[in-house]
Amino acid sequence: MERNRLFTKISGILHGGDYNPEQWLDRPDILDKDIAYMRDAHINTVTLGVFSWAVHEPTEGNINLDWLAAIIEKLYSNNIYTVLATPSGARPAWLDEKYPSAMRSDEMGVRNHHGLRHNHCMQSPEYREKVRIIDTALAKRFAGNPAILMWHISNELGGYCYCDTCRKKFQEWLADRYDNDIEKLNKAWWTTFWSHKFNSFDQIDPPYSNGENCVLGLNLDWKRFNTWSATDFMKFEIDTLRENGATEPTTTNFMEMFMDYDYHYMSKFIDVISWDNYPELHNNWQSDADTMLERSFNHALFRSMKPGQPFMMMESAPGVVNWRPYNKYRRPGVHKLISMQAIATGSDTVQYFQIRKGRGSSEQYHGAVIDHIGTNDTRIFKEVASLGDDLNHISEITGSVSDNKVAILFDWDNRWAIDDAWALAKDTKNYDKTCMEIYNEFMSFGIEPDIISSDMDWSNYKIICAPMLYLLHDGIGDKIADFIGEGGQFMATYFTGYVDKSCLNWLGGFPGDGLHNIFGLRSEEIDTLYPEDVVNIRIRHKTGFTYHSAAVRDYQELLRDVTADVLARYDNDYMAGTPAITRNQFEKGYAYYVACRTNQDDIEFLYREMLDRAEIPYSKLPAGIEKHTRFANDIRYDFYLNCTDKPVCISKINGFELISCTSVDGKLHLDKYGVAVIKN
Ligand code: GLA
Ligand code: ZN
Repeated sequence: MERNRLFTKISGILHGGDYNPEQWLDRPDILDKDIAYMRDAHINTVTLGVFSWAVHEPTEGNINLDWLAAIIEKLYSNNIYTVLATPSGARPAWLDEKYPSAMRSDEMGVRNHHGLRHNHCMQSPEYREKVRIIDTALAKRFAGNPAILMWHISNELGGYCYCDTCRKKFQEWLADRYDNDIEKLNKAWWTTFWSHKFNSFDQIDPPYSNGENCVLGLNLDWKRFNTWSATDFMKFEIDTLRENGATEPTTTNFMEMFMDYDYHYMSKFIDVISWDNYPELHNNWQSDADTMLERSFNHALFRSMKPGQPFMMMESAPGVVNWRPYNKYRRPGVHKLISMQAIATGSDTVQYFQIRKGRGSSEQYHGAVIDHIGTNDTRIFKEVASLGDDLNHISEITGSVSDNKVAILFDWDNRWAIDDAWALAKDTKNYDKTCMEIYNEFMSFGIEPDIISSDMDWSNYKIICAPMLYLLHDGIGDKIADFIGEGGQFMATYFTGYVDKSCLNWLGGFPGDGLHNIFGLRSEEIDTLYPEDVVNIRIRHKTGFTYHSAAVRDYQELLRDVTADVLARYDNDYMAGTPAITRNQFEKGYAYYVACRTNQDDIEFLYREMLDRAEIPYSKLPAGIEKHTRFANDIRYDFYLNCTDKPVCISKINGFELISCTSVDGKLHLDKYGVAVIKN
């Protein structure tokens, strides 16, 4: 795997984060001190201008960027680069006063008031015009400036607008999608149900909370439209910068497995993937190791969007956030663990929100590198500085990339469709969680999966797991058949292939689109269990003579017409004796079907079998340990993270440990929350 560096201007890992000097322009003493402290903390980059519009342009048309230029220059003379943001995430009061169409409308179509952020209508022509003007000024002034590393488009784009402009845009978007043929739409949306039929596109509303929100095809298309709308807005900002001379890479900061937009789609239009990582550690419902695995999954999701390229962890909290029900400080040592996990999974940056705390408003208690006390000797500051030092030790990691052979299919349309389906149990659908549990099981074997979409290139993978793939995109049946046919191991589960891209059920047996032939079965019923229900399956061991049993929770599917090999059968309740887990050879590969929900540990044999057949070496890691690997040409970097508060020793590890600059011969000792990077 070839080394692929994100930036040419800077060698090494980016360390820094959001900095808001505009809040301190009357305190030059503080600004100077901040820069000195940044140097102490080995910070080499800041993100500027995220919410600076009212300072850039205090009144309409009166743009002054001198303050920004001076700060960029001063930082640069201290070897600190700038990620420069467009300020569209929050608007000055004058703008909303004069152009109310800039303000978003809520789910009942009622216009919001001025204030907050992310409160704009992305289709408002007036708002766009004002964004165009300020973005043009920024690009004209700063494009090509040696201090500027990249452009950060807006901030955490999110939300839906239900205004009249958006309603009309939605109708146009639909007309385009359905070839101006309203009957095509009526068919796809099954609108004869409840007399929901439309005569023309201009009759269609967004799914107002007090209007039409029971047409599932409409709901799904509305989400797709909003993905398109946010992407269209983002592209408009990128185009504006490009037209005015900007050649630096672009990004926008994504938010975890955000539900509003399909990030797989959006990611195609930016140069670099970045996301904001806020783990809720030390909570009262799961272990730190489990919380860290959730983070790992998210990192993997964002890494996999641009194969062969590092991503950026654009935000993370030094110490604590302030917007959760409980805002608990991270315990000593955990800062390093969280930051190194990002690097381990493929990020070339550790960035924070925020460098210095603001004195007032809602984020005054949000963690920062520099606290209100104003010194460089706080616990958090010292942990950040120490991390900065560690990052310098491993700077050769930059540009290294992953090369994973296992992938989990994770699909936004599918998330939306499952969420909206009037089926199963409201509280236990858990599509995301199911994908994560499968990820975790592979991780326990020291194998990190990528997280992929239906339309990505699958050719690098030997195993693909696609749990609960309820909605099948056009052509996906053939794609799965090709993957298996050429020797792939493919795992599907209950609730697969029930609907097509419009949420219309497949006829002739689930899983649809021809998949029932590939899996050698049809699903006839899916039964929902209460948490108290006791259902078990009996799993046949390889010898065929011994069995072990596993508990089923939440869902069990009744299979019929099974021609596949049966690996487990239901043991009680009304499905007793019928197949619960199957394997079907299809051409050169194997199609596995798990018809019920179990703990992944209980069906570990399946993972071993897939890995064996795929000839992927694996070995069980101690509990709470994560392993990630990055490659750069012939060099291999194995990261080991101890996500527990107990020291641990891992055997059979050899190589050179980069953080401590020592060789490891056989046994790797990790302190609590400890991290090692083994180079080979
Ligand atoms: C988000 C935003 C930041 C800040 C942080 C606080 O990620 O992008 O501006 O509000 O949350 O955690
Ligand atoms: Zn709108």
